[in-house]
Amino acid sequence: MNRSQFLARVRPVARNGAQARLTSLLAVLVLAACAQSAPAASDPAPVPSGALGTSIALGRAVIEDPQKYLPHNVTADMSCAACHLGAGTVARGGTFVGTYARFPQWNKRSKRVITLQDRLAECFLYSMNGTPPAYTSKEMIGMVAYIAYLSRNVPTGAPQPKSDAFIVPLPSASPDLARGQTLYGQKCSACHQANGAGVHGAFPPLWGPKSFNNGAGMAHIDRMTGFVMYNMPQNAPGSLSLQEAYDIAGWVLTHPRPRFVPARLISQPAQRADFF
Ligand code: HEC
Ligand code: HEC
Repeated sequence: MNRSQFLARVRPVARNGAQARLTSLLAVLVLAACAQSAPAASDPAPVPSGALGTSIALGRAVIEDPQKYLPHNVTADMSCAACHLGAGTVARGGTFVGTYARFPQWNKRSKRVITLQDRLAECFLYSMNGTPPAYTSKEMIGMVAYIAYLSRNVPTGAPQPKSDAFIVPLPSASPDLARGQTLYGQKCSACHQANGAGVHGAFPPLWGPKSFNNGAGMAHIDRMTGFVMYNMPQNAPGSLSLQEAYDIAGWVLTHPRPRFVPARLISQPAQRADFF
């Protein structure tokens, strides 16, 4: 089984009860079945069997629906997959393919070397305007397992290929905010709404109290411009010029959003020694 077949099978764990349980059960059965079949020649590292496969599937499910699995850890009304498209499988759409190979890494903001768990914690704190789950929780371990699985063919230390990145060099002049406002009305507001609040469960908010906070990567104009140029409008990606994406991002980012509180304390629960 190749990666896209695996991903198609462990795809959305539906929000409503019975169907969700059936979907997860099927995913577990599929993973168990895969373990018995011989790995395809094109895929030297098949989906692991047993508990590791279950953890990978949980990690993907959390990234697609953190509100369901970690309701106390997120306040933004969006999933990780709102910015990491296809749960981190889309080039130039916040892909996680290769991410595992680049950690631990130096972090400019905190001025220290961070682990992948720390990087996930950052997206909880800023992009999800929330609190990181415990590093020993099955959700955190699942996300790490899933990202490691997606990165399995990338050698340790390999840099991100340029063709995967969406951060772009910006035009030298300031964005034209009036033009951005007009374009937003033409190209974005049908889904993200005129007030930027989106539609719960369908279109994520771009500003306001339920959006990412001011410390998030997406709050930087170079990142939002690139993300929008490559991936938006969702029904016509690639149709905007760099200048258009820049003007729209500039206008979007003039609106209020939650503020990050740097002095807030983050605690991780104590564990009994026999947990390890
Ligand atoms: C509002 C958009 C947004 C949301 C929501 C979001 N992220 Fe991110 N994330 C980003 C951006 C933008 C970057 C890249 C930032 C940079 O390069 O400075 C990033 C980077 C990352 C990275 C590092 C990737 C790499 O290859 O270095 C990880 C891991 C990550 N996010 C995990 C998550 C998880 C898990 C969630 C959900 C709990 C999440 N993100 C939610 C925007 C988002
Ligand atoms: C057809 C509906 C649609 C249109 C039109 C659209 N988007 Fe999106 N947008 C989405 C969806 C859905 C997502 C979540 C990712 C996904 O599922 O593809 C998203 C995600 C985003 C994100 C990252 C998540 C967040 O909330 O910050 C940004 C930024 C964004 N869109 C900006 C724009 C901009 C700017 C435009 C106009 C140029 C636009 N979108 C037009 C549907 C749309």
